[in-house]
Amino acid sequence: MRRILVLNGPNLNLLGTREPGFYGLTSLEEIVDELARFAKASDAEITHRQSNHEGELVDAIHDAAGWADGIVINAGAYTHTSIALRDAIAAVGLPTVETHLSNVHAREAFRHRSYLAPVCIGVVAGFGADSYRVALSGLLAHVAGG
Ligand code: DQA
Repeated sequence: MRRILVLNGPNLNLLGTREPGFYGLTSLEEIVDELARFAKASDAEITHRQSNHEGELVDAIHDAAGWADGIVINAGAYTHTSIALRDAIAAVGLPTVETHLSNVHAREAFRHRSYLAPVCIGVVAGFGADSYRVALSGLLAHVAGG
């Protein structure tokens, strides 16, 4: 049984009502419930955490080193700004997939840069709520092969 941390950053608690043209109408709770079902069918288990605070996300990554086999992270806007999150991912060395609902490369230039991608095994963006399932599926395949 693989154990995966699913980590969501700032403003993602507002999914379902926040800019639905970019992020859809599905709430974070619905995404996490669906992901938990998918994980179970894949002989895996997810633990979900969401925080609007950078340091709490860093702490969650550190904590995952003690129990998780990998991380699916949507760091929201911190993707484009946070050296601290990048360093945390590099420090713990867990396979990590950067995930976005929207296709960040089809949006403003400031969303094109990711501080996290260079320390992640892959990036999934643009599939709406399905991005999380695609990311988890890729991560589990990576972990199984590793
Ligand atoms: C996001 C994309 C980011 O640029 C943005 O700041 C978010 C959400 C996404 O899931 O598409 O908060 O990570």
